[in-house]
Amino acid sequence: MKEKEPEVPDDFERMWTDLAPVGRSARSGGYFRQPWSTPERELHEWFLEQARARDLVVTTDAMGNTVAWWGTGGRAPEGGVVTGSHLDSVRDGGAYDGPLGVVSALAALDVLRSRGVVPARPLGIGVFLEEEGSRFGLACLGSRYAAGELSWDRLRELRDPDGVALLDAVDPATAGALEADAGVSAAERLADLRRQVSVFVELHVEQGRALVDLGHAVGVASGIWPHGRWRFDFAGVADHAGTTRMEDRHDPMLTYAMTALAANKQARLAGQRATFGRLAVEPNGTNAVPSRVTAWLDARCSSDDELSALVDGIARQAQERSQRDGTTLTVTAESVSGLVSFDPDLAARLAADHEDGDWPVLPTQAGHDAGILSAAGIPTAMLFVRNPTGVSHSPAEHAETPDCLVGVSALADTLERLLG
Ligand code: HGY
Ligand code: MN
Ligand code: MN
Repeated sequence: MKEKEPEVPDDFERMWTDLAPVGRSARSGGYFRQPWSTPERELHEWFLEQARARDLVVTTDAMGNTVAWWGTGGRAPEGGVVTGSHLDSVRDGGAYDGPLGVVSALAALDVLRSRGVVPARPLGIGVFLEEEGSRFGLACLGSRYAAGELSWDRLRELRDPDGVALLDAVDPATAGALEADAGVSAAERLADLRRQVSVFVELHVEQGRALVDLGHAVGVASGIWPHGRWRFDFAGVADHAGTTRMEDRHDPMLTYAMTALAANKQARLAGQRATFGRLAVEPNGTNAVPSRVTAWLDARCSSDDELSALVDGIARQAQERSQRDGTTLTVTAESVSGLVSFDPDLAARLAADHEDGDWPVLPTQAGHDAGILSAAGIPTAMLFVRNPTGVSHSPAEHAETPDCLVGVSALADTLERLLG
């Protein structure tokens, strides 16, 4: 498929190389850009510099979600076309998940300006906080806050793996702003978001291989599978690894292990997804039967009912096993996102009539801020850029620069259609 020659100025590659070393592990080559950590704050500063360099007007909410605006005419932004993504990463993540959407948005704005486009309404470039939920466990924390989904009580409960409360992790000014904002109702916060944003488009590296198989550099999202995270707390009896007979043990690690096997089997049988990727063992000693094992299940299914059935089935089997092992289990939902169906007319309109033909429209099992805004009633679309291996949430995540440049042109085309 002949791809259109991208018209992107060289800014994309300069910006991309700016970000490459920030928060990168010398050991694995992966990225650690957890929210309110030094690398992630460095990326936000970088974004503000890019906005200043383009004379954009920056607005920031109490959580620190930031939008850089073009074409507000000196007024408070209203009815804007907003594009953007996130700058935080999973632990030991890839370079593209999140930042590709932000860098491409800045480069697409440069392209629109080079085309002589004069926006009939404001164009915003947005960065949402803690999309991955890799520090505080709640996916899309920033966009949920902006959409009024995050209550003050829920926010105050959030702790990171070291037990640090969110309000202690942020800088004092942000903590103060969040406290001052606590009285704003969910409805008011959502109304404020809807007033500013009339349509949202997120460009994201594809986290899968569909575009490779379809032979396209760019695709459009049709929707996001329902998905969530559940914390499994297995409690047993700590004891000596040598002197305790096997039949006398109440070993939570055993109950966890059987649960992980059951989750994998249930997901395979149902054609869905289930992962235990995070574990905390107490006291985590080599020569002791543990007292407690905490494990986090990430489950994703093609429908809300399938998701409930899969998680209930796994929890039921885990409970049965815990009775056999003489351990106890509590299961807590920590972050749940329902089925997202993006606006089909908008998706079709953005996918149609391009020089390389219509872009494919495809589902994803990955969550995104775009999913939160869509669920909040904001017309939303996503553009995917081809990922040669499909690998993501890994240092191996990659996209070829020519495909990224096609993505920038595609985003510029999309924004021009929406601004028109
Ligand atoms: O986990 C996800 O689905 C996304 O990459 N945040
Ligand atoms: Mn992402
Ligand atoms: Mn991700």
